[in-house]
Amino acid sequence: MAILAAGQGTRMRSPLPKVLHPICGRSMLGWVLDAAQAVEPRRVVVVVSDQNREALEAEARAEWSGDPGALEFVVQSPQLGTGHAVQVCSGAFADLDEDEAVLVLYGDMPALTPESLRELLEARPKGGAAMLTAILDDPTGYGRILRDERGSVLGIVEQKDASEQQRAIRETNVGVYALSGGDLPARLDRLTNDNAQGEYYLTDLVADYVSDGVPVVPLALDDVREAAGVNTLSQLSAARSTCQERILLEHLAAGVFIEDPETTYVDVGVELGRGTRILPCTVIRRGVRVGEECEVGPFTHLRVGSVLEDRAEVGNFTETKKARLGSGTKAKHLSYLGDVSIGAGANIGAGTIVANYDGTHKHPTEIGDRAFIGSGSVLIAPTQVGEGALTGGGAVVTRGSVIPPGAVWVGVPARPLPKRPPGDAGTADGS
Ligand code: UD1
Ligand code: CA
Repeated sequence: MAILAAGQGTRMRSPLPKVLHPICGRSMLGWVLDAAQAVEPRRVVVVVSDQNREALEAEARAEWSGDPGALEFVVQSPQLGTGHAVQVCSGAFADLDEDEAVLVLYGDMPALTPESLRELLEARPKGGAAMLTAILDDPTGYGRILRDERGSVLGIVEQKDASEQQRAIRETNVGVYALSGGDLPARLDRLTNDNAQGEYYLTDLVADYVSDGVPVVPLALDDVREAAGVNTLSQLSAARSTCQERILLEHLAAGVFIEDPETTYVDVGVELGRGTRILPCTVIRRGVRVGEECEVGPFTHLRVGSVLEDRAEVGNFTETKKARLGSGTKAKHLSYLGDVSIGAGANIGAGTIVANYDGTHKHPTEIGDRAFIGSGSVLIAPTQVGEGALTGGGAVVTRGSVIPPGAVWVGVPARPLPKRPPGDAGTADGS
């Protein structure tokens, strides 16, 4: 299998290599590798450029969970087109015979599913080729599929090379091909760059097969949103919503209540337990784990490393980062909880801030079971709040404080609330 990812991605107008742009917590390259992995390829050659090699290799290795030895990288320099990109790695396929398939895909198609790859592999005739096509309402920018009067595929014409008439064709090339080993290197050698972009087009292989009378089987996608090739940031956002919808549908099917999928952002690789309720305008990043029967949102941001145990609740305008909330713990309003481990049954009052950052380093905070953090408390890390301890409203718990279990600390800076002599009514704030 070859994944082409050496292109500059100039149409993105972004400093980040194109295929590293994220979609729901995973790069486009990561999405493509994930689909690729599902068809269990023996070798995967990723075609990269001098400029993006290091970043792409690191990302691909991080995302690839198959055999690490199956993943290879080949530098294409300069980049002379998609056909040239496959030429550059054709050595990897040199000793295959015509029974064996070489799947070629582009790194900028994050919405492709493993099912489509499987169907395509099955559609490939021995010695011939199969390719995915999509019938689009707006085919602008894509290569168009040319057919004869009987409907047989003749070739692919790129947008830039197409006549007015050809541009009206709505059947497009998705950019995924199941090719046959054997004569593939020879076919690649025959490609020329005689076209509007002066590039070696992989798409010209189709006409090459056809001219030899070798069948090329087109396989039309049922869901054309899979075909999205991302060249611009606006196409990136469209592909994102396709991937997001799929993620949310999976959670819904597994018994997670999502009140408003339109405003809910859940990355790939998030665990949500059954019976959990996700309320509108909520963002949950990759790797976050939420137990059963929790409530998250509305307007909540759960960031990297956050864990909510069963029945925990995090609500309105609360952000967590590397925060663990024990079962039944609540942080329902206006809080920032960073680098903090909170036990079970605790209550984090409205407006609590865990100040984890001193300007240079992050520090941890621990809050015990059943602790009660009064509204507007600021806990300056590192601090510890013991089991069942309480802070008064507006308390500023200074750095290094250790509040013993069951103690009550109040004020600025927070200090233990003096025990009142018997008969002294005192005032509500302890003064
Ligand atoms: C390509 C297809 C077009 C198809 C569309 C689907 C060709 C000639 N055209 O057009 O028919 O409809 O995809 O999205 O194949 N790349 C390299 N080396 C290169 C050039 C490109 O590795 O020298 C990689 C890019 O990084 C990218 C992929 O190949 O991931 C596709 O290249 P791109 O420039 O995006 O092709 P399109 O113009 O979109
Ligand atoms: Ca593209």
